[in-house]
Amino acid sequence: MSKKTVSIIGSGNWGSVIAKIVGKNVIDNPDKFERTVRMWMYEEMVDGQKLTEIVNTKHENVKYLPGVKLSENVVANPDVAETVKGADILIFVLPHQFVRPTCKHMEGHVKKGALAVSLIKGFAITEDGIQLISNMITECIGIDCAVLMGANLAGEVADEQFCETTIGNSDKKKMGKMLNDLFETSYFRCTVIEDIKTVEMCGALKNVVGIGAGIVDGLNYGDNTKAAVIRLGLMEMVEFGKIFFPGCKMETFFESCGVADLVATCHGGRNRMLGEAVVKSDKPIKELEKEILHGQSFQGPLVAKEIYGMLAEKNMLSRFPLFAAIHTICERKMDPRQFIDCLREHPEHV
Ligand SMILES: NC(=O)c1ccc[n+]([C@@H]2O[C@H](COP(=O)([O-])OP(=O)(O)OC[C@H]3O[C@@H](n4cnc5c(N)ncnc54)[C@H](O)[C@@H]3O)[C@@H](O)[C@H]2O)c1
Repeated sequence: MSKKTVSIIGSGNWGSVIAKIVGKNVIDNPDKFERTVRMWMYEEMVDGQKLTEIVNTKHENVKYLPGVKLSENVVANPDVAETVKGADILIFVLPHQFVRPTCKHMEGHVKKGALAVSLIKGFAITEDGIQLISNMITECIGIDCAVLMGANLAGEVADEQFCETTIGNSDKKKMGKMLNDLFETSYFRCTVIEDIKTVEMCGALKNVVGIGAGIVDGLNYGDNTKAAVIRLGLMEMVEFGKIFFPGCKMETFFESCGVADLVATCHGGRNRMLGEAVVKSDKPIKELEKEILHGQSFQGPLVAKEIYGMLAEKNMLSRFPLFAAIHTICERKMDPRQFIDCLREHPEHV
């Protein structure tokens, strides 16, 4: 079998951690993968120097993952068409709002039969309704797309603390071993399953619940209240899957991409941090994003807005009071102190 060439599209916090893992794994599997991993970087200046140049000389993403070394075979490139040319595996890891315009620049450069793997947490809303990002990637560049999601807070994975992740793909027999070779390490254990949509849906929705957990923290409620928010959030995720993604597998909610990611996000994720800030400050979300994340992005408010619009259109908001309240609070149209009241008459309780 010929060696596979790997490219990464995106280079933020999580993108850089994945570059660290994949960079090392291709070196460790020289019979399976080409040594050089190209990484597309949205070019920006840091202290008067191009970030791509810094990464290619220091082997460190000083803006998005400072203090962590990448192997020297990870090569940053500001040109996305050049980055994907000839690649067999395209790892997508960028905020979901940038996927479509980024794919546009790849047109005519993607190898036929290549495989995409999306690590992106979010949805696309189209005229036909809600769309998984993996489907959007397939639609835009014409190749199959697997997904990788799990309880993987980037900083902890960068520190090599043990965790698990879930890889959803359409053919475990054909691709499972190769995906495992590419992503698994002793501290990053991968479970490959044949269920793309539940894995991806969980990854997008858990960020919304994470904001709710942060609101609970900001209001100084204790662990019982947070556990209730996590459980009600999970039940809304399951209901959402039943309605909008028929064929969603219940057992997938018990994988790392489901309950585990939800728990991690509600205790340590950046969307939890946002929920807490929303209670303690009355600044708009965009301002808080700038102050807290310095260039990174909160995906939760965007997903909450997208699903709110769709649920409102379908007259289904009353079935998702937690999702609805979180969006309304993020828009500053509801006082966060009313959050818990919105949950008292939850459909789960009647
Ligand atoms: N950070 C985590 O812990 C984590 C874990 C799992 C999954 N994810 C998911 O991975 C995806 C990427 O997150 P991240 O943490 O790598 O990114 P990030 O939020 O750290 O950084 C934002 C990235 O977007 C890039 N960017 C800014 N403007 C752009 C534009 N116009 N076009 C294209 N790119 C632009 C920036 O250069 C930067 O690389 C998200 O979907 C996120 O939900 C993140």
